[in-house]
Amino acid sequence: MKILTIVGARPQFIKSAPVSKALRDAGHEEFLLHTGQHYDHRMSQIFFEEMGISKPNANLGVGSGLHGQQTGQMLIQIEEILLTEKPDWVLVYGDTNSTIAGALAAIKLHIPVAHVEAGLRSFNREMPEEHNRVLTDHCADLLFCPTQTAVDNLAHEGVSQGVHLVGDTMYDAVLQFSKIAQQQSTILQNLELMPQEYLLATVHRPYNTDVPENLANIISAFLELGEPVVFPVHPRTRKVIEALDIDIPADKNLRLIEPVGYLDMLMLEQNARMMMTDSGGMQKEAYFFAIPCITLRPETEWVETVETGWNRLVGADKQQIIKDVQDFMKPQTHLPLYGNGTASELIADKLA
Ligand code: UD1
Ligand code: UDP
Repeated sequence: MKILTIVGARPQFIKSAPVSKALRDAGHEEFLLHTGQHYDHRMSQIFFEEMGISKPNANLGVGSGLHGQQTGQMLIQIEEILLTEKPDWVLVYGDTNSTIAGALAAIKLHIPVAHVEAGLRSFNREMPEEHNRVLTDHCADLLFCPTQTAVDNLAHEGVSQGVHLVGDTMYDAVLQFSKIAQQQSTILQNLELMPQEYLLATVHRPYNTDVPENLANIISAFLELGEPVVFPVHPRTRKVIEALDIDIPADKNLRLIEPVGYLDMLMLEQNARMMMTDSGGMQKEAYFFAIPCITLRPETEWVETVETGWNRLVGADKQQIIKDVQDFMKPQTHLPLYGNGTASELIADKLA
């Protein structure tokens, strides 16, 4: 069986790594297509190196741009490759512009589409990701859901055929790479951090980067927390901080660093006292490691993390961020919400 996998953005390299391994271990042929949506070494190549992902068979080099322009360029180029490669399946991940471009290109050519991380919903139509998710799910022939909530969301939209609850491939990745991170990462020493004595933060959603007041509130809250905050900065966010000339004194508790590789990130996460993020993947990783999480968004797709008390939605409200970081109590229980680490094998089986 020939599978054409489409990735393009940082979280997709991580989500796809264990699935590509499972597909190849099962003897399937995989053509790996990188759209080039992310292209900086620390946003792309580093994940291929650290996670042992094969070199992409094609990199479209699409780069950054307006949504229509970026998605349209991907669509044109993916179609050409599908016509040449004639795969049995097109496999797409998550909710980025690379996801919807891949799904659209495939259905126009009547090639079946499999969607990993199907059924997630924020119910916020202002997020570009929400349109990408809904449309991709409605193109897909096989829908691999990480949670029962995702299965239920699809059922509410009348989608039940081809839906499989398999667990979360990011959990598979965490299980596969945590030990390697502990053995290889020197990030704590490099940054002179003590376990449990710092907070870890990331911000990149348009809700926070494209509303100057929101980003200013978040950074101001971080500065007032009074305990060390490590903040690997997404290039999108770096550009806005520079454009708005937001003042971050070097002698304060807030430390801006370049985006880190996966192994360093796993190490930073496991040892943080708490995480503050608007990232979807990092909300889950906080849960996997049983680290309390403050989500810098008004809603989340990963509702189980909130319902079980491990995640709190605070948006960009400065006082709320400070209050929740200070009074968060770790819940007593921690349930296995995202499968048992075999999502990737289940996906390979179902595709076969
Ligand atoms: C994209 C996804 C988002 C995902 C995120 C993961 C869409 C619509 N959004 O958002 O769902 O959570 O990836 O990180 O697909 N840039 C660089 N170097 C890079 C990549 C980006 O400098 O390697 C800068 C460019 O200025 C670019 C901006 O970041 O315009 C945004 O990049 P883009 O891929 O459009 O969206 P993300 O915010 O990364
Ligand atoms: N990540 C990383 N280095 C960073 C920031 C994030 O390795 O500097 C990883 C993180 O551990 C998670 C994934 O990237 O596995 C999340 O990607 P991102 O936050 O960019 O996107 P989202 O999950 O919000 O779509």
